[in-house]
This record gives sequence, C-alpha cells and structure tokens, in this order.
Amino acid sequence: MAREATDRFGVHLEPGDTVLLARQAANRDPARSVEPDRFDVTRPEQRHYSFGWGAHFCLGNALARLDIGVAVSTFLERCDGAQLVDSHPKRIPFTADEQLESLAITLPGRR
Ligand code: HEM
Repeated sequence: MAREATDRFGVHLEPGDTVLLARQAANRDPARSVEPDRFDVTRPEQRHYSFGWGAHFCLGNALARLDIGVAVSTFLERCDGAQLVDSHPKRIPFTADEQLESLAITLPGRR
C-alpha cells in the first residue's frame, strides 16, 4: 500500500492506494535478458528473483536447489528422448502462475 503520494514507473499513486506486483514478471525483464520468455538453459548466469530478495530470501533455497537437481537429473536419466505431446499444454486459468493442468509426454518404446 502506498504510504505517500508518489509517481513510479509512469503511474501516480495516492496514499492508501493498493499496489499489486505481478510476480510472474520477475526474471522476465527485457532490459536485463535477451528474449526473457524463451527457455534457455545455456544463458549466462545472472541475478534472479526466484527465491525472493533481501530479508525474506527463501530459507529453503538450498533444499529446493538440491531437490530440483535430483529431479531433473533423474528425469533425464530415466526418460531419455521424452517429447512433449502438445507444445501448448493446458493451463488452469486464474491460478497463481497459471499452473499446468497436465503435461503429456511420449517416451520412446513406451505407450
Ligand atoms: C523451488 C522451490 C521454492 C521456491 C521457488 C521458493 C520461493 C520463495 C520465495 C520467492 C520466497 C520469498 C517470499 C517473500 O519475499 O515474501 C520464499 C520464502 C521462504 N521459503 Fe521458499 N521457495 C522454495 C522452496 C522452499 C522450501 C523447500 C522451503 C523449506 C523447506 C522454503 C521455505 C521458505 C521460507 C521459510 C520462506 C520465508 C523466509 C522469510 O520470510 O524470512 N522454500 N521462498
């Protein structure tokens, strides 16, 4: 909530105005990354906000990084050749981050 009248990012705010931040926009600033919406694991590493920032930086970030590393490497080991069935999978509208309803893949040699 704005505590005082201010002009930020081309918007005028009065005291008491509610400000909603679009957290989906974090890490997707075209001024900082080339084609920020394109998934590219070869991007040079740079500061990101996926675990927040400052005083409330995610306390579980080390566990989350470990979990994700194990999950991704296990998937790649066991599901070599996996292909997306639909390149635009169905999402659940209006959920935080528009969560996936399902993500169908095919695995070679399996039905
Ligand atoms: C990929 C997984 C995760 C992501 C993307 C994530 C993301 C975040 C973000 C963005 C914040 C900051 C929220 C804010 O500023 O209000 C946060 C805070 C926090 N996270 Fe995570 N988190 C993850 C996993 C975990 C895990 C596994 C744990 C615990 C085992 C955890 C515990 C916490 C706690 C306790 C805070 C609050 C810290 C504070 O307010 O001082 N997180 N997380």
